[in-house]
Amino acid sequence: MARYKLPLLKDFKTKGDDKSSALIILKNNRGMQVALTNYGARIVSMIVPDKTGSSVDVVLGFNNILDYLHADELYHGATIGRYANRISNGTFELGGIPYKIEPNNGPNALHGGKNGFHTKIWDRRINNPNQVTFYYTSPDGEEGFPGTLTVSVDYLLTDENELQINYRANSDKDTIINLTNHAYFNLDGEGSGSIVDHVVEIAAETFLPINEVQIPLGELRPVSDSAFDFRKPKRISSGISRDDEQIQKGGGGYDHTFVLNEANKDGKKVAASAFSEKSGIMLEVLTTEPGIQFYTGNALTGKDKGKSGNHYAKQHAFCFETQHFPDAPNQAQFPSPLLKAKQPFRSQTIYRFHVQK
Ligand code: BGC
Repeated sequence: MARYKLPLLKDFKTKGDDKSSALIILKNNRGMQVALTNYGARIVSMIVPDKTGSSVDVVLGFNNILDYLHADELYHGATIGRYANRISNGTFELGGIPYKIEPNNGPNALHGGKNGFHTKIWDRRINNPNQVTFYYTSPDGEEGFPGTLTVSVDYLLTDENELQINYRANSDKDTIINLTNHAYFNLDGEGSGSIVDHVVEIAAETFLPINEVQIPLGELRPVSDSAFDFRKPKRISSGISRDDEQIQKGGGGYDHTFVLNEANKDGKKVAASAFSEKSGIMLEVLTTEPGIQFYTGNALTGKDKGKSGNHYAKQHAFCFETQHFPDAPNQAQFPSPLLKAKQPFRSQTIYRFHVQK
């Protein structure tokens, strides 16, 4: 199992003024540590205890800023915005006005466009040894989105081994918003190979089937009798191995939005979990968002060499991206991603860790 070594502060420093990149390390009193960088308001490392009492870094990433800048996979650990996931053809209409985000994923716009929030150097304020807030103001029209949007992402590491992520935003014009975090998890430690033996549970009766370019068809499809049934804990491999048209469309794995049950999107009940028998580490996710994109890293190419010197290849990690639904700006039956002018936007997601022996 991959053990950890925290990245060094000096390896995240870029030359310059207050807009330079940095590494911030949060600690709690149970030995958990989280490293973050203001480049993309990203999670760099999450160091948690395993069943033997050793510490394991369960998030993929790099130990210096240059590797992030030159990475093959752009979204490691990043805050994604203004619109996480896909918008069909990069177009949508708001108040009768058409808007266009330049496509960066086949015909579609993905994760806020080419220069989305993952590429920005955010301002930062360190409040406590266990808390940091990142700030960014996105100018009106940035990447094609309407309104000047001020955003903050607050990371709080609690003594319950939770990382609480609180998103806030405000716009001066009506706009759309969908924020998430793109941490790639491997509960055996980053760089330790495939995650298909992890056991996953998701509190979702339905999921969103997708077309050839990964845009939801619009229907909420029951998970029963399908590879998408995670209502009881199940090994990822048992679903992926099925000859399933949707698994093929997801790139030979899961890359789908699960529609959380009403009771599991109040931010207080567990919405999804993953567990590795090998490490004994369990991750639980709580959220106020209506959906979770469960993504099994199907597009990881193996080109990126991570913190422990190992390459990140297909299905070497998974993501639980809490969010509104893909293409919701064009699909009125989905929960609305509209943010009205001068109204507060808030969203919370918690990643909580346990050990089970
Ligand atoms: C998407 C994948 C995409 C990946 C890129 C995920 O959120 O669902 O389709 O390949 O991001 O990192």
